[in-house]
Amino acid sequence: MMAKTLKVELGTRDYPIHIGPGIFTDAELYRPHIAGAQVMIVTNETIAPLYLKRLRQTLSTFDVREVVLPDGERYKTLEVWNRIFDALLNARFARDCTLVALGGGVVGDMAGFAAACYQRGVAFIQVPTTLLAQVDSSVGGKTGLNHPAGKNMIGAFHQPRAVIADTDTLETLPQRELSAGLAEVLKYGFIRDSAFLDWLESHMAELLARDPDALAHAIERSCEIKAHIVAEDEFESGHRALLNLGHTFGHAIEAGAGYGTWLHGEAVAVGTCMAADLSRRIGWLSEADVRRIHHLMVCAGLPTQPPSQLSPERLLELMAVDKKVIGGQMRLVLLKMLGEAAINSDVQRDDLLATLSTHAS
Ligand code: NAD
Ligand code: GLY
Repeated sequence: MMAKTLKVELGTRDYPIHIGPGIFTDAELYRPHIAGAQVMIVTNETIAPLYLKRLRQTLSTFDVREVVLPDGERYKTLEVWNRIFDALLNARFARDCTLVALGGGVVGDMAGFAAACYQRGVAFIQVPTTLLAQVDSSVGGKTGLNHPAGKNMIGAFHQPRAVIADTDTLETLPQRELSAGLAEVLKYGFIRDSAFLDWLESHMAELLARDPDALAHAIERSCEIKAHIVAEDEFESGHRALLNLGHTFGHAIEAGAGYGTWLHGEAVAVGTCMAADLSRRIGWLSEADVRRIHHLMVCAGLPTQPPSQLSPERLLELMAVDKKVIGGQMRLVLLKMLGEAAINSDVQRDDLLATLSTHAS
């Protein structure tokens, strides 16, 4: 299998997404994007024993330091994030330093946000090691942290200089995390590409069995769609918001269940089922479409119902803390049909509560 390179087209800030097996140890992929001598690898305690030594060797011509964070969504906090600045300042890193995020979306979001803020902005490279990070979080420059009151509520847009997605790293990923990544892969089919959705449906068994060709195709197509949307609407003034299908519901589930209890992809899967149900209530999707979405989630090993302790009223309260809320008006990403999403700012509270009640057990 050959490596492939896509591009996120952002004028002078264009950057490559390299996808392929064995590529995270290719020094030539990093070199053009590292201006100074100082490199800080940001990773976590699960990924470090698996991949840190090899990455350090790959970058051995630079002055490489590392910061190893605790593992988990519950550590995506201001307090833990500050450790990256401690490491940078203790090592006297200058403005021409480069951060390298080695890990999943949590590490990528935290390292990216540190790069956005350190000395008012330094370079960073994403080396995503989860399926979710390879298809979504490493691309597009959204970085940030959670607040107890709301998910990803503190952050910045800061694009990486390059994304190096080594598909071999997925071999060590737990199966539950693989399924969580598939929720974001399915999202691209739901919002933009019904042919891709058909392909995913017929190749789900191969994807779950980690067939390298099937995974490579799913990652490439997902990144193509994301790169295209980001190039058109980098700062989410318009249709980039469609990438948040299921996320307003999902973020409420993650915050309500306690960060880390539910995986982000799992919460997005349930959120997508809720968005589908609501889309049917307003006459956009058919019953059959909704059943197909549920079936796809189940086939991907994903949940379709939220945790039982979350009442519809509590979910509604949590959903009001969402970055898409403007002037107190909730804006939800819904599906007009399979392969086409749209923002709806006019959802009636009764419909929303009916959807939440249907899904509450
Ligand atoms: P994660 O970063 O928590 O990684 C999942 C788990 O897998 C962790 O325990 C991690 O240590 C482990 N892991 C990572 N790579 C591994 C590997 N190769 N082998 C074995 N274990 C490995 O979770 P995630 O699903 O990658 O990311 C979720 C986060 O991404 C959420 O915080 C979410 O908000 C964020 N996100 C951001 C964006 C964005 O655009 N910035 C988009 C989607 C999601
Ligand atoms: N994950 C949504 C976005 O990047 O816009």
